[in-house]
Parts: sequence; structure tokens; C-alpha cells
Amino acid sequence: EQTGKSGYEHFMLKEIHEQPTALRQCLSGRLDRLSGDVTVEDIGDLETPVRVQLVACGTSYHAALYGAQRFREVGIPAQAFLASEYATAPPPVDESLVIGVTQSGETADTLSALRAAKGRGAETLAVTNVVGSTAARECDHVMYIRSGPEIGVAATKTFSSQLVSLSLLIESVAPGVDSERTRALVESLWRLAGNVQSVLDNSLDDIEELVDELSGSDAYFFIGRGYNAPVALEGALKFKEITYEHAEGFPAGELKHGPLALVTENTPVFALVTGDDAAARKTLGNIKEVQARGAPVVVVTDGVLEVERFADVVLRVPETDGLVGPLLVNVQLQLIAYEMAAHLNREIDKPRNLAKSVTVE
Ligand code: G6P
Repeated sequence: EQTGKSGYEHFMLKEIHEQPTALRQCLSGRLDRLSGDVTVEDIGDLETPVRVQLVACGTSYHAALYGAQRFREVGIPAQAFLASEYATAPPPVDESLVIGVTQSGETADTLSALRAAKGRGAETLAVTNVVGSTAARECDHVMYIRSGPEIGVAATKTFSSQLVSLSLLIESVAPGVDSERTRALVESLWRLAGNVQSVLDNSLDDIEELVDELSGSDAYFFIGRGYNAPVALEGALKFKEITYEHAEGFPAGELKHGPLALVTENTPVFALVTGDDAAARKTLGNIKEVQARGAPVVVVTDGVLEVERFADVVLRVPETDGLVGPLLVNVQLQLIAYEMAAHLNREIDKPRNLAKSVTVE
């Protein structure tokens, strides 16, 4: 088994470090840097959808939230659903393309949701890592995320590849909506693997020290807005899955509607801030709210906005396009979850009570 880990202590750490390679594989042949064109051959003649519904579970649901936001940004109405809820009470499909986002292609809830959608006449697409999986076989179309096998129960490289795959899908089915935006996205996707590598290369010492300081807290909160909202949810999920510590993620605007009651000087808050758009600036306001309650604040940022006076600790990721920055932030959060779990001596690759692929509803 040690050989399979290529010298890393855990499969999860190996897979975190495989992300630059996984992302290059995901992008290979799909991106033309010169023309700014994106082509996803897998999906053949899939037409621009009128509406989109995305169904998924766990980490894949967070990718679906990101995807839905991207579709809406290019003018296509889109909504992400937890597959278990969709399967229990399916919404009208109208003229929707229903996309199942599932690493394994075998998650029972996601398959049920896709079957419910198909039964109601929807066109379906699987975005998956596993060639020949049930989702790939049963859907009308399939797009492969090309991450390579993922052994660690906590999904890492497949989440990054799902975000990139959904971005590629959107550019290929809705091209030309905003050519400047597309060009900037293509350029930043081109640089993505290198930027992920630099997050991996730079951060370990800072993170070990941080984890040492923060361990033993009552709970850990993660906040972000816009594209950083699903990344906040994912950061908390990763953290709780492998550390067994209480962690919650919130779209930052929701803090004041309840979660703020839990914030004390013993609940560190990880705040995700990239770019300098309204989402980033409003998040600074939310950081002030938690600071006023004495919470230790760790800001993970690309440094575009000046955050030093809002933070006890600042973790920097490279500056890049607004759609891609959250991906780099996510890699940083994966490392934090991993280091905390290692510090607490947890079963990192096989956390208690969890399975890689859940085949019951
Ligand atoms: C399980 C795994 C999660 C995963 C979820 C959905 O709960 O432990 O890591 O995100 O299933 O899996 P899928 O294969 O459908 O992406």
C-alpha cells in the first residue's frame, strides 16, 4: 500500500499533490489558448440548454453549486439540488438539461435523481470520473473529469476537476456570451496547474504553525460569498470529515441570520476573499462582525484587497481570474484540514462512519 502512496503518508495527501497533473489531464485538448475556444468532445452535439438543474451529493454538491452560479452568470437559469431531496420530491423539469455531478458515478441518491429527471422527459448529462460507471451509462451524455483514481474517502482532486469541468462545459455549450471574460478564463485555466503547484509548494510551514495554534477550539467556521460560498461549504465538509471536529460553512451573508450566535473567541473563522468585487468587499464586512465577537480570523486571499487589518493570520494564494481564485483557496483549505487531522492523529484516508461511494439511499 505504501508504494501506492508514492512516499506520501496518506492517499489524501498524495491526491492533493496530484492536482496539478489531474487538472492538466482535465484540460488537455479542450482549451485553445490562442483562439480562446473551449471544446469538449465528450458531449458531442449537446445544444445550449434552455435551463439547467444540477443534482449531486456531498463534495460534488458543492461543485454543483459553483456550476449553477456559472450557468446563471452566462444567462442560463440554473439551480443545484441535493440529489436526495431531488429524488424525494422532483421539481418540474421543463426544458432542463439535468446534470448529475458524481465522481464515482455510483452514488445511489444521484442515480435516483437522474432517473427521476429522465422519467419526466429531461435530457441528462453525467459529469463523472469513472468511465463506464452507472451514471455514465444511463445518462444521455457524459463528460469525464479525468482526475485518475481517487482512493482517499475525502474527495480532493476530483472536486477541483469538477469545478474546471463545469467551467469548460459552460464555455463549450454557451460560447461567445462575453468573449473578454472567456479569454480571461481560458488564460487563467491555462495557468491553473502552475498556480495550484505554487499553493502546494509555499504553504506547509505556515499551516503547521496555524494548526498548532487553533487545535482545541470549540468549532471552526468557514465563510465566503459568490464563488467562494460553495468553497466555504467544501472547506468545512473536508475539515469535519477527517478531523471529527465541529466545522460549518456558511455563505457569509447568512452569518447574521443565526450562526453569529455561535461565534466566540474560541471559534476560529476562516474567511475566503478573492478579487475585489462586491462579494469580496461584503465579506470584509462580515469579517468585522466576527472580529467584534473576538473570533480568531484566518483570511485566505489572493491579496487583491487589503485584508491585513481584518485578520489574525493571512494565507496568500496567487492572484488570478475571479472564477479560478476560489479553486486555489480550496487547495489551501484542503491542506489545513489535512494538517489538523494529522495533528489529531485521525484515520485520514478512511474516516470513521464514511464511505467513498454510498450505494444506498
Ligand atoms: C460520499 C463520499 C464523498 C462524496 C459523496 C458523493 O459521501 O464520502 O466524498 O462527495 O459520496 O460522491 P460522488 O461519487 O457521487 O461524487
